[in-house]
Amino acid sequence: MAMVNCTCLVSWLLCFVSVSAEFQRFEQPVKPDGSLSFLVVGDWGRKGSFNQTKVAHQMGRVAEELNIDFVVSTGDNFYNDGLASISDPAFEESFSDIYTAKSLEKQWYSVLGNHDYRGNVTAQLSQILQKKDNRWLCQRSFILSTEIADFFFVDTTPFVDKYFKKPSPHKYDWRGVLPRKQYLKGLLEDLELALGEPSTKWKIVVGHHTVRSIGYHGDTEELVKNLLPILQAHEVNMYLNGHDHCLQHIESTKSSLQFFTSGGGSKAWKGKSPYRTCEDNKFYYDGQGFMTLELTRAEAKIRFYDVSGQVLYNLDLSKNQYSAM
Ligand SMILES: *[C@@H]1O[C@H](CO)[C@@H](O)[C@H](O)[C@H]1NC(C)=O
Ligand SMILES: *[C@@H]1O[C@H](CO)[C@@H](O)[C@H](O)[C@H]1NC(C)=O
Repeated sequence: MAMVNCTCLVSWLLCFVSVSAEFQRFEQPVKPDGSLSFLVVGDWGRKGSFNQTKVAHQMGRVAEELNIDFVVSTGDNFYNDGLASISDPAFEESFSDIYTAKSLEKQWYSVLGNHDYRGNVTAQLSQILQKKDNRWLCQRSFILSTEIADFFFVDTTPFVDKYFKKPSPHKYDWRGVLPRKQYLKGLLEDLELALGEPSTKWKIVVGHHTVRSIGYHGDTEELVKNLLPILQAHEVNMYLNGHDHCLQHIESTKSSLQFFTSGGGSKAWKGKSPYRTCEDNKFYYDGQGFMTLELTRAEAKIRFYDVSGQVLYNLDLSKNQYSAM
């Protein structure tokens, strides 16, 4: 009898553990001086066109200067329709053959964008791609832990209602996402659990879609409603995204949260959303470029660079400057 009870308890515990630890965790060491530096780029994979190659060149130069530890990709990795299969040459043509600088031979941590969902998602998430180019790491939602910062990568495309409307001009690969309600509920619960763990590190959330933006797409209402309250409740410091093909900083007045868009990896110049204004917008650039972050335990240096490598925006944050008094 005792044996049976014990087995029950163990399987119940295992079940509980697997439910509450849904996000896979990766570890990344910090530099010997305890700092980290990395690039953030989004909306890039166009086989070099629309200045993707020029941006890549500047990324290589700046990555060397900063001796970066990794790259964050905010999604829309392969245009227009993701990868067709694991042998789609777009993987090399848009990624391996473009970001060729030695300084960019670091781990890339990527989320999926809506254009990636228009291809074969299983292929883009496949470990086989890591064998082709060991820099590649793409998952729907996952955690990257370091000594000074935790990064929470969130799969935002399934939140957006319009992609599920029928008839749809595009086909989306929703395998692994349906039933949608259950998927989103599980994702948010897992995120809350992970963000709720006591921590004095930076909390940085990465997703493809905007939460707040004055760019072409503007705010993503579904994320303002479902994700933003969780980010605020858990005192997240930064939300990094792409989707709008611009570079942007929006400050939040209600919490410590700062919104950064880095979606300038290739095609840009789409214009601002004509009907959105935002008094908290600190910086907006409608062209190509990327973002850099240099982190220590207490300070963050943020820079936006354009296609010719000029620094467009410069922001120093201290971790506690926006904390509740
Ligand atoms: C590429 O960048 C150059 C500046 O270096 C700019 O003049 C040109 O318009 C850009 N091309 C595209 C397609 O955005
Ligand atoms: C998608 O990619 C997977 C993994 O490479 C492959 O098994 C599958 O046949 C591809 N096509 C479709 C339609 O799923």
